[in-house]
This record gives sequence, structure tokens and C-alpha cells, in this order.
Amino acid sequence: MRGKFITLEGIDGAGKSTHHGWLVEALRARGKTVVATREPGGTPLGEKLRELLLTEPMHLETEALLMFAARREHIHKVILPALMRGDWVVCDRFSDATFAYQGGGRGLALGKLEILETWVQEGLQPDLTLLFDVPIGVARGRLDAAGNAPDRFEREKAEFFQRVRQAYLDRAVREPQRISLIDATLPLAEISKLLGDIVSSIC
Ligand SMILES: Nc1ncnc2c1ncn2[C@@H]1O[C@H](COP(=O)(O)OP(=O)(O)O)[C@@H](O)[C@H]1O
Ligand SMILES: [Mg+2]
Repeated sequence: MRGKFITLEGIDGAGKSTHHGWLVEALRARGKTVVATREPGGTPLGEKLRELLLTEPMHLETEALLMFAARREHIHKVILPALMRGDWVVCDRFSDATFAYQGGGRGLALGKLEILETWVQEGLQPDLTLLFDVPIGVARGRLDAAGNAPDRFEREKAEFFQRVRQAYLDRAVREPQRISLIDATLPLAEISKLLGDIVSSIC
């Protein structure tokens, strides 16, 4: 039986990476074989593209094309083989992030992103997407408190993140059956409990 494909989404500082680790462990505790991965990245080539994307100034269409190039490699080499083996795949960001950041945040025409999505994903969509929603100021405060050097996206202004957040929320409204909206201002333990309930319903 094909495994399930779960993605985590939300603006920088929402808590994706924190809960990615928790979710992977929770699924393994339920006996699932889990491939834990992330985008951009997830393959040796994809990680090189990630490094470029997070550091190198580039035209916004180049950015979108590199995101989808890394995704093509990831789907082909990691995600589909894992799902076909019956493994579960838990991915920190996927194409909702491209629509939110390059589409909503940077203003790239959604039609162009949809062409790339059709080409690269060939119909592949997550079975479940957990959207961590948090006000921009809260996310910024968490990133500042963590004290890591901000990457090329994290250095963007609050208005950019407002647009990204809104684009994510618009997608959640359009696809409520796939995208579960999580109030990411809640304490970590409460969010973990929510995730546990959601996961129970699909295990
Ligand atoms: N619900 C939460 N409450 C308090 N702090 C949180 C919460 N979720 C995440 N954090 C903290 O916020 C910071 C950013 O979280 P992270 O998981 O790296 O976000 P993302 O991967 O979405 O950018 C981390 O220091 C993390 O410990
Ligand atoms: Mg992260």
C-alpha cells in the first residue's frame, strides 16, 4: 500500500521544524517507516540548490525555477520511491511554500507557478498539509530569540511575510480537506496534542 505524504507549512518562525521532528517520532512510535525530509533540499543536488536559494540574490523567476528544479529531483529520487515502498514521507515545506513565497510574497503570477507544478509534480499532492499560522510579530520574535543569522528570506520585511501568510491562508480556504490550519501561537505541548489527534485520524 502506498504510504502517506505529509507536509508542514507556514512562515519562518511558525514552528515547522520543531514540530517536524515531533511528528516524525510520533509516527515512528506508531510503527510507521518514515522518511523525514525538507524543501528546498532533500537530495544532495537539492541541498546545493537550497544553499544558493538561501544566500544568492537572483531574479524571482530564477528563484521559482530553482525551487521546482530541486523539487523535481526530490520527488523523483526520494518522495515517490518512499511512497511506493509504503513508507510515510514527512516534508518540512513543499509546493504550498512556493505559491506562498514566490507567488504571494514576491508577486510571481500564479499561472506560471501552476505550469511548473503540473510539469514537476505530475499530480502529486500531499495527503495532508499542516499549516502553522502565526502573526508576523510572533514569528519574528521567535527567530530573534533563537538568534541564528537570518537567511535571504528571513531578512524580508514584515509586509512580505504578511503577503506570504495571507497566501497560505487563501490556500487553506480553497483546500480545507487537505490543509489543516494550526494555531501556532499555542504552547508547544498543545500543538503536539493537536497534531497527535490529526495523525490518529489518518493512521
Ligand atoms: N508554539 C511555540 N511556542 C513557543 N516557541 C515556539 C513554538 N514553536 C516554535 N517555537 C520556537 O520558535 C523558533 C522557530 O521555530 P522553528 O520550528 O524553527 O520554525 P520554522 O521551522 O517554522 O521556521 C524556535 O526557537 C522554536 O523553539
Ligand atoms: Mg524551519
